[in-house]
Amino acid sequence: MHASDLSLDEKTQLLTGGDFWHTAAIPGKVPALRLSDGPHGLRKQKPGASGTDPNASYPATCYPTASALACSFDESLIERVGTALGQECRANGVDVLLGPGVNMKRDPRCGRNFEYFSEDPLLAGKLGAAYIRGVQSQNVGACLKHLAGNSQERKRMVSDSIIDERALHELYLPAFEIAIKQGRPWMLMPAYNRLNGTYCCENTRLIDLARKWGFTGVVASDWGAMSDSVASVAAGLSLCMPGPRPDHVVKIRQAIAEGELTEEQIDACVSPLLSLIDWAKPAEPSAEPPDRPTPSAVHDADADPENRATETQQVHWHALAQEAAEQSAVLLQNQDSLLPLNRQNDIAVIGSYAAFPRFQGQGSSQVNARRVDTPLEAMKQACPGLCYAPAYDPLTGEANKEQMVEAARIARDAQTVVAFLGQAPDSESEGYDRAEFTLPASQVELLRALHAVNPNVVVILQCGSPVDLSWRTDAKAILLPYLGGEACGSAVARLLFGDVCPSGKLAETWPKQLADTPCGTDGFPDHSDRVFYRESLFTGYRWYDAAQIDVAFPFGFGLSYTHFAYRDMHICQNEDDIQVRFTLKNSGTCDGAEVVQLYLAPQSRSVFHPPQTLAAFCKVHLKAGTETTVNLSVDRRAFSFYDSAAHCWVKDPGDYEVRLGSSSRDVRLHQTMTIPGKPYTLNETVAPAQLAPYHHVSPGGFSDTAFAHLLGHPLPERMRPLTPLTIDSPVTDLDQQVIGQLVLRIIRWVGTKIAGGGPQAAAMLDHMLEEVPLRAGMTEDFIDMSRIEALVCFLNHEGGVVKALRNNYSKRLS
Ligand code: BGC
Repeated sequence: MHASDLSLDEKTQLLTGGDFWHTAAIPGKVPALRLSDGPHGLRKQKPGASGTDPNASYPATCYPTASALACSFDESLIERVGTALGQECRANGVDVLLGPGVNMKRDPRCGRNFEYFSEDPLLAGKLGAAYIRGVQSQNVGACLKHLAGNSQERKRMVSDSIIDERALHELYLPAFEIAIKQGRPWMLMPAYNRLNGTYCCENTRLIDLARKWGFTGVVASDWGAMSDSVASVAAGLSLCMPGPRPDHVVKIRQAIAEGELTEEQIDACVSPLLSLIDWAKPAEPSAEPPDRPTPSAVHDADADPENRATETQQVHWHALAQEAAEQSAVLLQNQDSLLPLNRQNDIAVIGSYAAFPRFQGQGSSQVNARRVDTPLEAMKQACPGLCYAPAYDPLTGEANKEQMVEAARIARDAQTVVAFLGQAPDSESEGYDRAEFTLPASQVELLRALHAVNPNVVVILQCGSPVDLSWRTDAKAILLPYLGGEACGSAVARLLFGDVCPSGKLAETWPKQLADTPCGTDGFPDHSDRVFYRESLFTGYRWYDAAQIDVAFPFGFGLSYTHFAYRDMHICQNEDDIQVRFTLKNSGTCDGAEVVQLYLAPQSRSVFHPPQTLAAFCKVHLKAGTETTVNLSVDRRAFSFYDSAAHCWVKDPGDYEVRLGSSSRDVRLHQTMTIPGKPYTLNETVAPAQLAPYHHVSPGGFSDTAFAHLLGHPLPERMRPLTPLTIDSPVTDLDQQVIGQLVLRIIRWVGTKIAGGGPQAAAMLDHMLEEVPLRAGMTEDFIDMSRIEALVCFLNHEGGVVKALRNNYSKRLS
């Protein structure tokens, strides 16, 4: 099917979804495609369920979340996870999986960090590409999201990320570029937020860049993200989700009639959608009707009637979820080689997350896990005599005195204590940022009490993003499975007892304290309408290295039960890349895997730069006592920078130290090499002194003045004007108008009824209303867009009338 086979009316109809989860169909011509979340499992909602209800999906396999998976640094493992996800989608009639998310982690408190891979663009991009290749190998589309600068949940639907050109091109966009070039996704989702003044859905520059990188697929809005129909379609938005959005279709048709949009522009949006329909076809068309499972398929009353997955497949997916969790967990600390544990020991297991593990975060990615292995059950299988005390409430994570006394009692009598710690399950979610960096105080007190009676404490830390670790002196060992998916229980048990050797490495830095982060204690989330990314290139290890800040655990760090020796490094410069070769030996006594990391440290550069950046990595599995030659290839791009004035990448000749390390702060081999050429002359309009904070990075951070120099223009106001109201105004802005106040009261009243009443629900609702734009009111078909536009228009007018009357009245009084 080609765009030319459809009438203009039919084509415009395709530009919005058919419903919450489907693209539109043209009977007899164009079938609808089914889209489902992603990323770490399939969330296929049951018919009739609200699109946003996380508890209304069919059971599916829940893999470790991206922040966990990334610690594997293993592209082939992630490709296999992607393949399994694609198979499960195919078995359930899903054509596009909404993932992966490759946004950069800017601060540990972002509510959605668990859904993202890393603070490093190369790692996030390569792992994202592997995931996409896997999913799409099953003829299921992957949707790369959320392009770009979506680093906080606070005000995500209305805020504007102000990012300088270099940071954009060197830090925030490369993960998307790599994922597009190496993964070739069929769908791309622009983020909710604005980027440098323009909503991502209508950001022509952004979408054109994706096309330049070779993206030929469908640009689909995030759910409820599209603001301006005409601008979005002009920028290349193929699909406004969710649907139906008759108002969108009407506006597009009107714009065509008025010459604002051309039929060619519509074709450019529709053609990728038609191609996607061709691409997303079952690999082998089955003779079975979709509602009749194959004989070996699982008969589960709760299962999707379309589900054709066989029991063998489900067992395989669960085993893969376990393998992924095993390969991703990071051993942070292991004093006196306390781990691995001896099965014959008396073990006390403390903490309800052993029985109710935290294995995923909340929000649209939440999977209704088919089967969850609890660490407690898995540990009992290895060590039937172990004792257990829950110690705290699994919902709040808070311990009480009585529970602590009981926990300390069983800990005293054991040889080893395994304590499961973590923040409350609702602490990490889409839609809001994490309120606390610390663990619940009572858990820290609990750990102290355990340590006081038994020095052999192992902590299993379940969380999606770094937390404060100042309690770590009270534990000899710390194992970090992150949010490890449905099989994390079995994985944790196998790692603890040494059936598997830990090999995960941190894909993000764990700072010592919040004050050390680039945004500081109070700078995140930013409550302004315009969020200044003042730190530019200096996030994650780029910041901690440049500002020479001590961290709890550096990027790339992770211990093992074995040891690895590095030797014989050789560098070979080719036309297109640099090849680095060395010998790696497993010099310890057990089989294991090492994540080898290559960092480039420019010795002299024409521009400011982070002290080092990751330029290549790979995971090498080695039997005890064996060795191998490792080859790493470094792309030429790593020896260049983005010239903001010339709007292009330029080669940066000079000396570079090539570092091979076991972490970003554990360099084992290094050599200096030279990229030949004349130093690049920058056409700089700003004197280096004005950018001093970027040239000499210090813990003091970056001023607004320096950031304005870097941007090349004065900073915009942090808050946008409250009036006139627009469809993008947050709901609480209605407060400005007399009638608006009445409407706001009604919305609050209805909202509190839906939220179930109570002061907590009301507070949450108020918080939400501050963030949600008026246009989002129609997302679930509560009310259609033309009514919202009419309300906005009326209120703006009413505001004027009331003000005039008021002025008149006060004039008469004076
Ligand atoms: C999220 C997307 C998700 C979509 C559909 C949005 O709120 O930002 O990541 O795919 O909902 O559930």
